[in-house]
Amino acid sequence: MDKIPTDELDLVKLSSGFDLSAFDCNDSDLNSFLKEDALTYQTSSLAVTYLCLYKNQVIGYFSLSSDAIRLELEEKDNLAEPKQRLGEYPAVKIARLGVNKSFVNQGVGTFLVKAAMGKIAGVIVKEIGCRFVTVDAYEQAIEFYKKLGFVQNLAKKRKSGLSMRFDLIDYIKLG
Ligand SMILES: CC(C)(COP(=O)(O)OP(=O)(O)OC[C@H]1O[C@@H](n2cnc3c(N)ncnc32)[C@H](O)[C@@H]1OP(=O)(O)O)[C@@H](O)C(=O)NCCC(=O)NCCS
Repeated sequence: MDKIPTDELDLVKLSSGFDLSAFDCNDSDLNSFLKEDALTYQTSSLAVTYLCLYKNQVIGYFSLSSDAIRLELEEKDNLAEPKQRLGEYPAVKIARLGVNKSFVNQGVGTFLVKAAMGKIAGVIVKEIGCRFVTVDAYEQAIEFYKKLGFVQNLAKKRKSGLSMRFDLIDYIKLG
């Protein structure tokens, strides 16, 4: 399927007034989070949500929260830097991500993850330490994240989802 050109996609922070009623990413938890909880999470400073707009329609979203991850010794030693090992590494988590089912496989999910990385590397790391982007990936989304460069976290076991991380160091150096 053809990709939607990224210059036709907009990213806006969630606020009241968006019509979210038609949004359906085929996952009832992700749908209801966006429609019922995301604004409260935002005003409570638990997660900030960004919407993807295409032709004035909300076709995707992600939510970000702060996070920290533990790495196994071998993972720490494989990091390009630093050489000293930390107990926990600061991170930002993609807490939720969904693309409207009518728009999957058109590059929207990739646009959203890259937008999240750009925001974290371009804004957050300039103010506070943050080395990784993390996600607890749904089974059906693991390959999607792998294609974007995420790897599995060995140390962190989750009840649901596969804990994954993306190392921002190259983004940070470029910035
Ligand atoms: C997972 C999801 C976000 C992907 O969004 P998308 O817009 O379809 O992704 P893209 O079009 O950017 O796909 C990028 C690449 O990943 C691949 N991909 C996407 N979903 C995939 C899947 N489920 N399994 C394997 N590969 C997948 C695409 O084929 C594409 O490969 P290509 O670059 O070789 O063409 C979307 O399918 C979705 O919202 N799913 C339901 C909710 C969900 O699972 N959210 C994740 C919560 S952790």
